[in-house]
Amino acid sequence: MDLSVSTFFPLPASQVFSSLVEELALALGGVELKLEPKKGGRLLEAPKKGRPTEVARILAWDPGEGIRFRWHPPTWAKNAPTEVEVRLAPEQGGTRVTIEHRGFGHGLLSEEGEELVGWFASEVATTLFRATSPARLGDWVTDRHARRPSGRAGRETYRDPLYHRPNFAAILERLSLTKQDDLLEVGCGGGAFLQDALKSGCRAAAIDHSLDLLRVAEEMNQEAIAQDRLELVHSEADRIPFADGRFTRAVMTGVLGFLPDAPATFREMFRTLAPGGRVAVYTTTEALRGTPADPEPIASRVRYYSDRELAALAKDAGFTGIKVEHPDLTKFAKVAGVPLEAIPVFKGHASQLLWATKPTSRPVRPGTRPSSSPPKNTPRRR
Ligand SMILES: C[S@@+](CC[C@H](N)C(=O)[O-])C[C@H]1O[C@@H](n2cnc3c(N)ncnc32)[C@H](O)[C@@H]1O
Repeated sequence: MDLSVSTFFPLPASQVFSSLVEELALALGGVELKLEPKKGGRLLEAPKKGRPTEVARILAWDPGEGIRFRWHPPTWAKNAPTEVEVRLAPEQGGTRVTIEHRGFGHGLLSEEGEELVGWFASEVATTLFRATSPARLGDWVTDRHARRPSGRAGRETYRDPLYHRPNFAAILERLSLTKQDDLLEVGCGGGAFLQDALKSGCRAAAIDHSLDLLRVAEEMNQEAIAQDRLELVHSEADRIPFADGRFTRAVMTGVLGFLPDAPATFREMFRTLAPGGRVAVYTTTEALRGTPADPEPIASRVRYYSDRELAALAKDAGFTGIKVEHPDLTKFAKVAGVPLEAIPVFKGHASQLLWATKPTSRPVRPGTRPSSSPPKNTPRRR
């Protein structure tokens, strides 16, 4: 059977080609496939554990024009290998990309028409319907821009997040970091806050679940990494892969509203802080929902917390000395160079900042045992 999908992009072919290759390599990496982007390059099944296996070979690689690769025949049937072609053709005002797979399913599915329909419905049509549903598109946009940013635009935004600099400054002013501190950042994005924090001479470790942004953070903080002052780890916020009591300070900014399990993240920050350690958590308030600062479809996928709910997250995790503030960030916004028309967004009603401390001694609740190691499934170190 032959399969073909096609779409139009209002961009020149050279630009479509380079973006397509970059995005494909990233997305394939997420499903444990590794693309070697060149003629003669391979497509490898590359599981996190175990050896990579070559599953296809690139026969043609013509930047701006297309790619052709050949799947190796399946191990269970020695059929003729099948080929996939990605073709770029100039069309008025842009480029049409067509992906075509020829000769698929010989001797396996094609003999059974109904089976072929089943495969097409479950593997192709369902994927297409899901990708184009408005809810799924809203999720994709949210991930892409904020919840798990990726892609060129995301990397550029978080390399220098101008609109986050005012809250970075407000946190750093109060955190009073010194060389003696060991700082944890949860959801470090492109590492801009770390860059400012490390100027204090402190040590730091940070996690994020966006591999793309961790690479930016690595690039932005090369010197501190080379000096062994910074560790960046790919991880989920509710499984922080560091030892109990390691840190003197913990910070999380612009992340809270996206967390699927905020109580677990607070418990993890509590666990990894030393007694007496302080945490700062910054987020925006519901006042910004649907404004250019917190636009849709992202805003409806963000969880906003009332002051009471935010304080309860910290209290339930064991923190004391809890304060929730609404700092006016206007002066920091001006210093950061935020355009004048955006300054009102930095007034007190829009920001929410929690401060809390891990007590120096903690009553042990009946039936609980203090943990002594990070949770299982510790993600790999980068
Ligand atoms: C809006 S960005 C803020 C980035 C950075 N803190 C800043 O202010 O520039 C949210 C960041 O949190 C990360 N993030 C969101 N949910 C996460 C989770 N469950 N575990 C780890 N990282 C997460 C995202 O990948 C992204 O880098």
